[in-house]
Amino acid sequence: MKDVYILGIESSCDETSCSIVKNGVEELATVISSQIDIHKNYGGVVPEIASREHVKNITIVIEECLEQANMTMDQIDAIAVTYGPGLIGSLLIGLEAAKTLSFIYDKPLVPVHHIAGHIYANNLIKPLTFPLLALVISGGHTELVYMKDHLYFEKLGGTLDDAVGECYDKVARVVGIPYPGGPSIDKLAALGKHEYKLPIPLNDDSYNFSFSGLKSAVINLAHNEEQRGNKINKENLATSFQDVVVEIISKKTEKAIVEKDIKNFVMAGGVAANRALRAKLEEVCKQHNIDYTFPAIRYCTDNAAMIAAAGYYYYKQGRISDKKVNAKSNDKLN
Ligand code: KG4
Ligand code: ZN
Repeated sequence: MKDVYILGIESSCDETSCSIVKNGVEELATVISSQIDIHKNYGGVVPEIASREHVKNITIVIEECLEQANMTMDQIDAIAVTYGPGLIGSLLIGLEAAKTLSFIYDKPLVPVHHIAGHIYANNLIKPLTFPLLALVISGGHTELVYMKDHLYFEKLGGTLDDAVGECYDKVARVVGIPYPGGPSIDKLAALGKHEYKLPIPLNDDSYNFSFSGLKSAVINLAHNEEQRGNKINKENLATSFQDVVVEIISKKTEKAIVEKDIKNFVMAGGVAANRALRAKLEEVCKQHNIDYTFPAIRYCTDNAAMIAAAGYYYYKQGRISDKKVNAKSNDKLN
């Protein structure tokens, strides 16, 4: 069978990225230009600045990627691009670049859902097998997704308010850690002990999550300690918070594994880099004797390799678009 080379483009938030992936499984080259250092100064991603940075970087990352893979556009079979969800101004830059390449080189254009991309980051480690449960945990999402086959997505549940990554970033801000605080809270949590009592949010039988109450509880706790003249112990706060997150996420994930008779479990999104969550969910998978894959740490956060990997399956299924496709800041995974 002829090999299929997909060029992927991702620009939904604050990373401009291009990647070339062979047959949906083999990464040939990936270039990521991150804007974190710029947005750090503002405590979060500033959409207007993000769009401008994407404009500056998009052609550079595409050229660099082709150079690293030692390939030309003639050798590419299709162009996969994130069309949504994400920041509209950011998405448009990647999408317009993909449309232009598709037009000039007469290549099929394959619009990819950003969350499908996160899930398919695992395909670069080990090909997905089904029935599969994906735990999607990022700065914008917290979802349990059931897949009976490639690109068949059924959302079992998700957050009713804040995403878990967003909650990590807010808790980090409370203890004076700059954006994005998730990785630092993860590191601090490994050093502390469970000193502070925090509520386990939405501890019910559903597959839904809620993190805004937990976020408020941390903010109130820090505020009360300050008013009493007590210094908050950062490590212990991080441990107390992370223990609650791990407990509720692993409880609901385990329930889905059992009830849906899952054979394969994958994690996806920025928070999938979290060491405590990885350790706990690995334990759960081993206990239930199911296969599991975690994405490479560098591909937990946004990148184009995951878009190119997912794009291969979209392409195989003929999900090719005309040049009229528009960016969508919000769109259901289907
Ligand atoms: O997937 P991603 O790059 O962006 C979205 O699509 O949202 O995820 C970014 C999020 C941030 O909230 C960041 O703090 C969080 O992932 N994150 C972590 C860790 N590494 C990144 N959260 C907890 N523990 C980590 N090790
Ligand atoms: Zn993402």
